[in-house]
Amino acid sequence: MLVFKIYLAGFFAGQGFGQTTASDDEFAKRCAAFRPRIDNANFEFAEYLPSGKTADLKYRDATCGGPGASGKVAQDVCRVAMYLKTSVRSGVQFEAWLPKTWNQRFLATGNGGIGGCIGYGDLTYTTQHGFAAVGSNNGHNGSTGNSFYHNPAVVDDFAGNSLHTIAVIGKDVVKQFYSKPHSKSYYFGCSQGGRQGVGAAEKYAKDFDGIVAGSPALDFNNLISWRAHFFPITGPKASPDFIKPEVWTGLIHDEVMRQCDAIDGVRDGIIESPDLCKFDPTPLACKSGATANCLSTKQVDIVRRVLSPLTYDDGTVIYSAMNPGSEMRAIDRLYSGQPFTDSRDWFRYVIYSDPTWDPFKFSLKDAAASRDANPSNVKTFPDNLDTFKSNGGKMITYHGQQDQQITSLNTQRWYEHLMASTRSTPAQLDEYIRFFRISGMGHCAGGPGAWKIGQSSSASPFEPESNVLAAIVDWVEKGNAPESLMGSSAASAVDGPVFQRKHCKYPKRNVYRGAKRPDDAVVRSTNMGDWQCVGVEDGLIGL
Ligand SMILES: *[C@@H]1O[C@H](CO)[C@@H](O)[C@H](O)[C@H]1NC(C)=O
Repeated sequence: MLVFKIYLAGFFAGQGFGQTTASDDEFAKRCAAFRPRIDNANFEFAEYLPSGKTADLKYRDATCGGPGASGKVAQDVCRVAMYLKTSVRSGVQFEAWLPKTWNQRFLATGNGGIGGCIGYGDLTYTTQHGFAAVGSNNGHNGSTGNSFYHNPAVVDDFAGNSLHTIAVIGKDVVKQFYSKPHSKSYYFGCSQGGRQGVGAAEKYAKDFDGIVAGSPALDFNNLISWRAHFFPITGPKASPDFIKPEVWTGLIHDEVMRQCDAIDGVRDGIIESPDLCKFDPTPLACKSGATANCLSTKQVDIVRRVLSPLTYDDGTVIYSAMNPGSEMRAIDRLYSGQPFTDSRDWFRYVIYSDPTWDPFKFSLKDAAASRDANPSNVKTFPDNLDTFKSNGGKMITYHGQQDQQITSLNTQRWYEHLMASTRSTPAQLDEYIRFFRISGMGHCAGGPGAWKIGQSSSASPFEPESNVLAAIVDWVEKGNAPESLMGSSAASAVDGPVFQRKHCKYPKRNVYRGAKRPDDAVVRSTNMGDWQCVGVEDGLIGL
């Protein structure tokens, strides 16, 4: 016997949204038999994933990381895979994950790096909370940029066409599967995925009602150059003045913290506002005769250049400065003495179509070439989001303040740009875009701070106060715009026990107002009331 239950389960306490469930059997059969009718699509499979199962990642290119990246599904899901042709020479590997208990919301997920890897972790996470979620390989396979070579259509998919395609077709697939359309549509992504979210609001403003754009790879052409510029500065590992990882994480990081940690009012190993940190490496220079625990003159210069904005000779900013304090993680890639592969591939396969281009020779000429090329308008640094705004769209962007791969100062630069070019006050931007600075967070996740804000399934309760996905839903559907985001830290031997901290909405900044502590004591206050978000009205913007 088929059992259909319709019930109104409170998604947020006290308010219900329609949710449909069916028995396991009926759902599994409906899934197996499902054949979406979509033009220019090759149906691949429809697979029933019972709760607790880990998806077999048959489409995950070996360079995307091994199996297990999806995690176990937390509720029954119908997984549908298709290949969507976007042009004669390009197409998108597409998946829709359709949960049995559906909250009637549609959600598209994003990608990372310059890669073509489906965000299985996000599909698992968002279906767990009832969203019908879609994802794609963003038009090419694997984490490298080889497929861009002599194929502008693949770049076009990467720049935004892929996401738009899966938004349009995904909504149709959802409607066919559930026999009714979605109520609201969302986008959820970080890093390249953050750029995709801002890009959707800019170019396809009606695709989503709510967008979560984390640590966004904005001003992408210049980001490519910024990431390329570290290798010629640091030099390869074997070069005489190469700064070893332990010097970055020891001597230099300690000095950054000595100079900047207490600007927010307390020495706790977390820099709340890296924009206020004007780090000067000269105290680290070796005094005459000394060679240990200090930097050579050349190394001091390397540190200064690494932590300065990238500019043209006339001072025009190409990209904002690296986040001081991110040394622990930046040693893995940007300070590693090796080319940053995403940038290398972009220059080789997109900008120059020259697979022999040498990343060690990167110069400002290359930066200008990347800036000017802007293929498929991949840049993503919009002057306005007027259509998105007038359509009622809402966006939350967040950025870790110890991001080791995309400096958070660039997201701040974009926010200021948006203010200036739309002649808006922060209060006016608040109507449709809110930016949260997440202290002590690395690139999209991790770090010594209270960085868990629901950007993945890592145990943030699904509540608007502390979960960015729940927050965007609450804003779009009930008009409750977030004023702050409560983060939780991870427990670790290095970073200490779990604590929580409220993160402020830009341009407010987080200031410690608790009891004074001895200047040299590194203490994490667990008392919420010790922190306050302050702004111009408090006479405290800047220093
Ligand atoms: C990605 O892989 C699929 C399936 O193997 C293939 O059809 C498609 O052409 C590949 N995409 C690119 C851009 O190479």
